[in-house]
Amino acid sequence: MKSFLLFIFLQIIPAPVEFAETGKDCQVHSVRVATGRRASRGFRTMAASLPAFAQKEAYSIDVGKKRIRIEALTEEGAFRAQQTLRMMELSGQPIHCCKITDYPRFEHRGLMIDESRSFKGKEFIMKQIDAMALLKLNVLHLHLTDAAGWRIEIKSHPELTQKAAWRIGRTYAEWEKNGYPFCTEDAPQAYGGYYTQDDLREIVEYAARRFIKVIPEIEMPGHSMEVNRTCPELACIDSTGRRRNWAWDLCPGNEGTFRLLEDVLDEVMDIFPGKYIHIGGDEAVMKDWRECVNCKARMEAEGYSDVHQLQGYLVRRMANYLQEHGRTAVGWDEILETGVPQDAVIQSWRGSSGGRKAAAAGHKVIMSPNTHCYFDYYQDLIRKEPLATGELTSLHWVYTYNPLEGISEEDASCILGLQANLWCEKVPTPEHAEYMLYPRLFAIAETAWSPTSLQRDPVEFRARARALLEVFRTLGYNTFDMDSESDFAIEGKRRTRTGEIIYPAF
Ligand code: ACM
Ligand code: ZN
Repeated sequence: MKSFLLFIFLQIIPAPVEFAETGKDCQVHSVRVATGRRASRGFRTMAASLPAFAQKEAYSIDVGKKRIRIEALTEEGAFRAQQTLRMMELSGQPIHCCKITDYPRFEHRGLMIDESRSFKGKEFIMKQIDAMALLKLNVLHLHLTDAAGWRIEIKSHPELTQKAAWRIGRTYAEWEKNGYPFCTEDAPQAYGGYYTQDDLREIVEYAARRFIKVIPEIEMPGHSMEVNRTCPELACIDSTGRRRNWAWDLCPGNEGTFRLLEDVLDEVMDIFPGKYIHIGGDEAVMKDWRECVNCKARMEAEGYSDVHQLQGYLVRRMANYLQEHGRTAVGWDEILETGVPQDAVIQSWRGSSGGRKAAAAGHKVIMSPNTHCYFDYYQDLIRKEPLATGELTSLHWVYTYNPLEGISEEDASCILGLQANLWCEKVPTPEHAEYMLYPRLFAIAETAWSPTSLQRDPVEFRARARALLEVFRTLGYNTFDMDSESDFAIEGKRRTRTGEIIYPAF
């Protein structure tokens, strides 16, 4: 039975594929888990009909009067089942006898956290991994480098953290106002930090035990001012010999840039065992490349007529480097415009059009459009919210996002899934980050896991989200206050620049 009234009662996010109540209160005392060949033939037949990624995570739960039986093909499936049971327990409702059959809609169900603009640290990340596990999210994308701070220890280049992990300016705005100064750790007023390789290994291991993969992001060639400030000898240089050590972009004309990036990626691959490594690729300005003698020489040698081709050169070279080492590059949707290897995964952020084009070109795609999945954007009216970015992106708005909109059935198989992105220029503390994440991450979790065959009713979802938010509060998360949410946000409205009210396409 797929009644959403029952889901209110069940209070699970993401909603399971199939749920049927089979009796009243269960006085449970034991949980049995049957995985692999010990699962029933019926379960194995059901799972065999699913795509491979879903088979791994599929599970069933049979809550009887006195015992609970979990079935799954893998430990991962059994873990997802345990999270469902845990959520039922945490809801504080009596557990009724029921049968649940469940598996994910998408393979990639992610969250990105920007650790460069504000550094939140290991405990914060592990706490969010716990929340992700409960919500059946399975990819944590860590944005580890950007102009505002380099946050990963690189043993072959200790200068990156020595010179660019600390800054004068607790918030991004203060740092900007101060003129973007970096400093050493022992400087008075130093703000910042970085992950040691041991910290990151611990995070990877902690996440893996919860069947969550970690994708590290090393930005290139844009968003890289901290590298140019640390290694000025690599920055673009004009014909008068002036180094652009405040430049936003790395210099793709300088071989030293590639040596540095390869050294960094070697260590990154050693820490992060997963298939995917994110190499950024967004918002390169390319201005200094026009004047740089090394960039001009590279253009001439490659027969290029446009600096955009230099971005393609750098991204392809690094994507190929990863490929040679058995890994796959992920990049923001700009990388599609300048040519990338076919195996590169495209992450759509400038709306969904980049993702649609990438899927049509046969690339695997992660959907995280700023129109719906940017959690640094306001979640309620500007006048009642802390300073944020962008347009009103309320819970309702996020919930009504359709990642397959405008994508043909044939191309839909290229969509790996979706992801929330929490950029932190205006999110200075861990508490503020949680405030921006919850409850909106619940909506991403449900869209990414639950099938569209379930009737998606935002009013009903809101009731479940509200109940789960209470649970999150008792677990110690700082959340947005749904009780004070404006009707405008509850209804998922937005106003265009000319004042016209728009609704999400649903
Ligand atoms: C991005 O938001 N610049 C990927
Ligand atoms: Zn250059």
